[in-house]
Amino acid sequence: MGIELQADYWELMGESPGLPINQDANVDTQLDERHLVHRGQKASAHMKVRSIVTQCFRDHFFSKHYHEVCPPTLVQTQVEGGSTLFQLKFFDEDAFLTQSSQLYLETMLPSLGDVFCIAQSYRAEKSLTQRHLAEYTHIEAERAFIDFEDLLQTVEELIADVTQRVFDKCGDLIRLCNPEADKILEVVTKNRPFKRMTYAECIKFCNEHNIYKDPKTEEHFKHGDDITDAPERQMLQIIGVPVLMIKFPLEMKAFYAKKCADDLELTETVDVLVPGVGEIIGSSMRVDNYQELLEGFEREGIDPKSYYWYIDQRKFGTTSHGGYGLGLERYLMWLLKLPSVKQACLYPRLMYRCKP
Ligand code: 4AD
Ligand code: MG
Repeated sequence: MGIELQADYWELMGESPGLPINQDANVDTQLDERHLVHRGQKASAHMKVRSIVTQCFRDHFFSKHYHEVCPPTLVQTQVEGGSTLFQLKFFDEDAFLTQSSQLYLETMLPSLGDVFCIAQSYRAEKSLTQRHLAEYTHIEAERAFIDFEDLLQTVEELIADVTQRVFDKCGDLIRLCNPEADKILEVVTKNRPFKRMTYAECIKFCNEHNIYKDPKTEEHFKHGDDITDAPERQMLQIIGVPVLMIKFPLEMKAFYAKKCADDLELTETVDVLVPGVGEIIGSSMRVDNYQELLEGFEREGIDPKSYYWYIDQRKFGTTSHGGYGLGLERYLMWLLKLPSVKQACLYPRLMYRCKP
């Protein structure tokens, strides 16, 4: 390595034939060796930044007087649709690994006020992309007595404040990983408010810029289509700055999403999209009306029985409230310009990978 050491004492503690690792090789080829990869300069820098970023999220929340809670990850309710649920037997009952702690955070608003958690979430993702993990670290928060505009400002402030904190703590380390990182700091702190586009405007943008739903057939997007991984990133590459994508159609969103007062077909929802990654935050105002919540369950074909504790929030005193979830590995992928979320993860869990 070209480094000379002057030692006044040394002792051999364990022999090593030299690590069978090439730091610059593709992350996928070295996932079996991840335990050794972590000893390298690059991987250890990623994990150091991850540790500091986690601290900065906590610092952000505590500076704003949130309380931290630890919801269970073994649950009997779905949050984000049945297709990505990991099922398991919990003694002799059916249970799932949680997709999101959101519902539990909502239950704590009446007693604690604003709350957050940093917990693992699980998604049985059947596709291999650069931004999907089967297990990821989910930073979630919930706020009471807010409206949709407050929510939009909350997610924007989160990104700007945490990014500033992270640069204050370890700017040089970040620049070492991503020489273009200062542009990110500049855009999130100086380009405020963030650009806002409605879901309908995003669909129009894709169709006007020949971003296809399916590049093979060159099929255009229709209202109600999901803008998936690749087209979302294409869109952000052209726009070049973070976007708050707002007001998704009701049929695209889960039972808990609140309808827009001026258009009952749309919801008070927002995804935060960033260049190079796409969605890093999913967020919404929540249905706070008892009857409307039951309609939401019916719309999704969910039996409300196991949600009695969630429904009770609308029965025994309710307030307007909203919250969000941010994927920590996706935030790091953006900040450090990583080719994939796998590099942001200690030991990634993916389809066909549950080791080391
Ligand atoms: O958009 P999602 O599915 O929203 C929720 O789970 C809400 N219940 C959160 C809330 O409002 N409290 O997920 C939120 C974020 C995404 O924006 C993304 O950053 C991350 O979680 N995420 C994943 N990260 C890695 N791998 C996956 N498979 C992910 N699925 C979601
Ligand atoms: Mg989402």
